[in-house]
Amino acid sequence: MKGVFITVEGPDGAGKTTQIQGLTAFLQEKGIPYLCTREPGGGGYVAQKIRELLLSPESGRIFPRAEALLYAADRAQHIEEVILPALNRGEWVVCDRFADSQLAYQGYGRQLDIPGFLQPLNQLVVGDLQPDITFLFLVAAEEGLARIIEKRGAAPDRMEQEALDFHQRVCDGYGKLAAENPERIVVLDGMRPIADLQAEVRSRLIPFLSRQNK
Ligand code: TMP
Repeated sequence: MKGVFITVEGPDGAGKTTQIQGLTAFLQEKGIPYLCTREPGGGGYVAQKIRELLLSPESGRIFPRAEALLYAADRAQHIEEVILPALNRGEWVVCDRFADSQLAYQGYGRQLDIPGFLQPLNQLVVGDLQPDITFLFLVAAEEGLARIIEKRGAAPDRMEQEALDFHQRVCDGYGKLAAENPERIVVLDGMRPIADLQAEVRSRLIPFLSRQNK
């Protein structure tokens, strides 16, 4: 039996990490075998190296198409190495970011050609592997960046260092992706109390539990 593929998306500082902890705690309670992973960097050595290249401020300028291809290379490795084997073992996969991030950040943020470049690239890399459900946590760009500075207290990474208008385009882009994929993407207001958000995530997962029990 194939597992359920769950992705979690949102602008930087939207609270994905906390929500993923709640989500995996729920799977644990229900006795569901799962694997929690992330992009970029969810695979082994290669993925770690690509993550470092993409996020280290020391990388300096990475041109937008090269950046998109590096994220795509990470995803191609991650799918083969981690995601598909786990789904084929019947595990649920909880993935912190996936192909929607590519459209939001490289498409809307960097303003690369979505229909001409990013969609064909995604199709080549991802093929038919669509998430069963995507939780999108939205907060305003200013709020997300403020949370990062407050929480981390350390230097922002190469993407977080981008100007506010870049992050605003990413947020707007996520909104457009959600409007285009209402059957898959569940939009959640990241300003709501954590417990409320977790309750909604859990309720959205209930229909998938019956699939597990078949
Ligand atoms: P995170 O692990 O803290 O979420 O950071 C990953 C960063 O990489 C975040 O700023 C979003 C960005 N990103 C892209 O720009 N494109 C992608 O395809 C993915 C997966 C992430």
